[in-house]
Amino acid sequence: MADFQIAPSILSADFARLGEEVDNVLKSGADIVHFDVMDNHYVPNLTIGPLVCEALRNHGVTADIDVHMMVKPVDRIIPDFAAAGATYITFHPEASEHIDRSLGLIRELGCKSGLVFNPATPLSHLDYVMDKVDMILLMSVNPGFGGQSFIPATLDKLRAARKMIDESGYDIRLEIDGGVKVNNIKEIAEAGADTFVAGSAIFNARDENDANDYDTVLKAFREQLAQVK
Ligand code: DX5
Ligand code: ZN
Repeated sequence: MADFQIAPSILSADFARLGEEVDNVLKSGADIVHFDVMDNHYVPNLTIGPLVCEALRNHGVTADIDVHMMVKPVDRIIPDFAAAGATYITFHPEASEHIDRSLGLIRELGCKSGLVFNPATPLSHLDYVMDKVDMILLMSVNPGFGGQSFIPATLDKLRAARKMIDESGYDIRLEIDGGVKVNNIKEIAEAGADTFVAGSAIFNARDENDANDYDTVLKAFREQLAQVK
């Protein structure tokens, strides 16, 4: 079976108890922490920055932290995330004037680099930088908010990205972000994704007593992934 990773998006976590929320999803079997950074400029919402990433590290989080930057410009803030303990730093090609330089900067600082593609952004931005990315992140919703519906055209785009990765021979993760649920994760994996961001599906899951229930939803994701052909 492929090396599937589940990446809860803390955008849907309870920010007043963030350290505890991250501990709990990791304890329930999540693999990496998806960290959504929004600037109210590149996207119409405002979230968290390097201080919060550093706070999670100081809290004792040792799992990979996958920083998804929805900010413009990107180069000024990349070193701050590297210093704050980011593992992956990904950005949108529209947000950097010099994509190759920004990717190089992320790797120079010891982090893994990645490009993020909005639903209407073509994969051709990858043509000359496949050797410089560790992660390709396809947005299956328009960025800015959790809880939106998966855009079905992303399945064909996943297949195209999977082909590009396999033909390149490079070790690149293919991540999907937006509207991932228990009832669609299997077909998303079959289209080629190996890393699955899920925000509302995980953090809004409740048991019969209305308490958070990360175990059940993560187990359901794993059961679906185990059936992937
Ligand atoms: C949207 C963010 C996502 C978001 C996903 O801009 O990049 O990571 O939190 O949320 P769900 O899983 O609820 O679609
Ligand atoms: Zn994200």
